Amino acid sequence: MLVSGKELFQAAKQGGYAVGAFNVNNMEIIQAIIEAAEEEKSPVFLQASQGGIKYAGIEYIAALAKAAAEKASVPVALNLDHGTSFSQVAQCIRHGFSAVMIDGSQLPYEENIAITQKVVDVAHPCGVSVEAELGKIGGVEDDISVEAAEATFTDPQEAADFVERTKVDALAIAIGTAHGVYKGEPKLDFERLAKIKEAVDVALVLHGASGVPDEAIRKAVSLGICKINIDTELRQAFTRAVQEVVRTKPEEIDPRKLLGPAREAMKETVRAKIRLFGSAGRA
Ligand code: 13P
Repeated sequence: MLVSGKELFQAAKQGGYAVGAFNVNNMEIIQAIIEAAEEEKSPVFLQASQGGIKYAGIEYIAALAKAAAEKASVPVALNLDHGTSFSQVAQCIRHGFSAVMIDGSQLPYEENIAITQKVVDVAHPCGVSVEAELGKIGGVEDDISVEAAEATFTDPQEAADFVERTKVDALAIAIGTAHGVYKGEPKLDFERLAKIKEAVDVALVLHGASGVPDEAIRKAVSLGICKINIDTELRQAFTRAVQEVVRTKPEEIDPRKLLGPAREAMKETVRAKIRLFGSAGRA
């Protein structure tokens, strides 16, 4: 069933686990994630990024995700990932998204507060949860690129002020992760995470979690991370499976014979993440 992000955030915060938020671009990806969540009896976020919306069109993404959520035996929230404008948030709410992220992290602090407040004002009366970002998460995610040198970590005191003034449900924080493929092993600032957790009472979100070692993920969850975004590792699983079919059966021309195994491979990756995040059996 389709539920508000709020519901998933609250349950995760109380239960001390994190819900996976997986990026979606087409039917097979949506099915892979939903099947994985059902098999693991886990709540889940499906989320559409700027690139995903541009690729599939918001009508297709919303219709596919809603069909999947309505049919699902587990709670599913449909989230806008890294919303860039108020109008885009409004458009997503109109299309039935049950969660939105407004990413004002590139803006000066007061402007980030102002746009986040504006989004909360319209989203909350619609039953839609709001995630914001404070600090800058490095790396490239579809259309948005943040140089490593530009990435700045979230300040706990600023986080407290931000949450109090905006009334967001969730906060994406910068503690050393980055979107995309890591060059070395990412080092997370757990001390900072603990201080942020102490300073605010909202769900904390970890972006750029692909390639972060399992131990670090477990520790982040134990310190209060409630939502974990994964995209790159899903892309890798999907594409490697397609490549394998092309390599072993170069004469294959049925798209279903390429995308079916890709869907299966992605499902296994999602299942492993769900178990790692501690959300298995929580639906
Ligand atoms: P990765 O691509 O590094 O998994 O990051 C996904 C993400 O944070 C989406 O917002």
